[in-house]
Formats: sequence, structure tokens, C-alpha cells
Amino acid sequence: MAVQVDDRLPAAIGAPAQYDPDLEQLEVGLLLEGIFKQYGFDFRSYAYASIRRRLWKRIEAEGLTTISGLQERVLHDPAMMERLLLDLSINVTAMFRDPGFYRVFREQVVPTLRTYPFIRLWHAGCATGEEVYSMAVLLEEEGLYERSRIYATDINEVVLQKAKAGIFPIERMQEYTENYIAAGGKRAFSDYYIAKYGGALFSPSLTRNVVFSQHNLVTDSSFSEFNVILCRNVLIYFDKSLQARVHELFYNSLAMFGVLALGSRESLRFSPYEDSYEQINGPEKIYRKVR
Ligand SMILES: C[S@@+](CC[C@H](N)C(=O)[O-])C[C@H]1O[C@@H](n2cnc3c(N)ncnc32)[C@H](O)[C@@H]1O
Repeated sequence: MAVQVDDRLPAAIGAPAQYDPDLEQLEVGLLLEGIFKQYGFDFRSYAYASIRRRLWKRIEAEGLTTISGLQERVLHDPAMMERLLLDLSINVTAMFRDPGFYRVFREQVVPTLRTYPFIRLWHAGCATGEEVYSMAVLLEEEGLYERSRIYATDINEVVLQKAKAGIFPIERMQEYTENYIAAGGKRAFSDYYIAKYGGALFSPSLTRNVVFSQHNLVTDSSFSEFNVILCRNVLIYFDKSLQARVHELFYNSLAMFGVLALGSRESLRFSPYEDSYEQINGPEKIYRKVR
């Protein structure tokens, strides 16, 4: 049984005991404002508890002692911003993550997709691309890949480069094979990769119909109309107002009867668009736009 990696850091990582929480909040606000003004990355509406833990992780790693100290370094050193971006954008992912999701997608979404002449999918916040390759495998096995176009986006250019390369850690193949089988995979998972370049190199045919591109859910707008939008394990890092903004973006980017897939800890409940969707599958967080 594969261990599910939790995206959250242990609560123990944080400010030194004597740090004044009000001052900490002030400094975090100033730092995030500075990052936005200097680099255009807008983390101002990300969930505070998660952001502060990640800032402290970077402060520790750099041998600093205060958030203001980190601010000074970040604003003057783009390389530091790149390192911090990796911390803040939390790229934990896996192939066939939550296998039940892929099984339900096969059983309850694929039959509708079969009726379309052409299928447009958007993976928003795709990280290093494991879920994109997983979806490509699924569509291939269902005979739909040839008429699909997958747009795979993330805020972080570094992870997108890894996604494009399609080389994943060989030591995770055992876990991914188990996920693939539990997800209803129809072949041998090893058919899709070869051992090369010190990792598992996935077949380039899986990205034939994939466009990888940088897109920021906070500041960028809709760029097409989709039949399926997958945004899993991204919205948990956003506060309510930012979640609402992103739901508006998804609603405006989905065709009527299009499918929205969220992560296991996310939902449409209490979003302004709750009534615009019906549930296809509750536990797997799959919804259909109906109005
Ligand atoms: C935990 S990963 C989820 C990866 C994958 N969707 C999954 O479920 O396994 C979250 C991803 O969201 C991306 N992300 C965070 N903020 C974003 C934003 N504003 N716009 C686009 N992507 C963002 C991060 O860079 C990261 O790669």
C-alpha cells in the first residue's frame, strides 16, 4: 500500500517561541506585498497558516532569523525568489494519485467524453506533470487520446520543465504501478516507460497532445473553453476569496456540461458557484456544470 504524501508541513516548523505573532503577521504581509510588486507572484490570499510555515522553512534553510531578513534577501536576489517559489508552490504529486478518482473518471466521465468529436482538458496546477501523464494513459487506454488536447499549466516554470522532460523517480514506480492497477489500468504499467537517464522515462507519445504552459490562477484569465478542468490539491492553499475567484475562472472556462475535478480535501460547497454544478461523484469531488 503506497504512502500518501501529505502536502502540509508538520506544525512544528514555525517561528521561534519568542516571536510576536502580530509582528509576524505584519512582516508576512509586507513580504508578500513586496514579492507581488517585485516579481508579480501573488501569494497575498494564500492560506496564512500554510504560508507562514513555508516561509519559516526557507528562513531556517538560509540561516536567517526573521521574516524581514528573508524579505531583504528575496527582494534583492532573484535566485532566492526562485528557491522560495519552490517552497511556496508546494509541488507534491504522484501518478494516479487517489486511484479511486481515476477509476470513477473512467467509469462515470469517459462515457460522456466518448460522445464528443474533440475533447479539451485543462490540468490547472499540474506540478511536475504526474497527473497529466496519468490522464494521458487513461485516455489512451480508452481510445480517446487521439481526439484529446490536454493543456497542463502551473505557476512554476521549474516544475513545468520537469513535466515536459517526462522523467520520474524510478523508485516510485512500484507505488505508481499499485496506483495504476487500483485505478483500473488495463495494461502493464511498465509498458509506458523505460529506465533511462537515471529515472523512468515516459513514452513521448503520451505528451503528443499535451501543451505545457505557465499560467497563474491568481492573476491570469481564461484562455479557452474546456470539456474537463482538473484542479486537484491546489485550492486548499488559497483563502476563501481567492478560491471564489478561481471558481469564477473555471466556471467561465468550462463548456456547458463540462466536468470539474477537485482534490480529495476540496469541494464546491460554500463556493458562489455551488448551484451551477451537479455532483457526478461526491467522494471523488467530480462535478458537472449544469447551468
Ligand atoms: C500540491 S501540487 C498539486 C499537483 C497535482 N495537481 C496533484 O494533485 O497531484 C499544487 C500545485 O499548484 C501550483 N500552484 C500554486 N499556486 C498556483 C497558482 N496561483 N497558479 C497556478 N498554479 C499554482 C503549484 O506550483 C503546485 O505545482
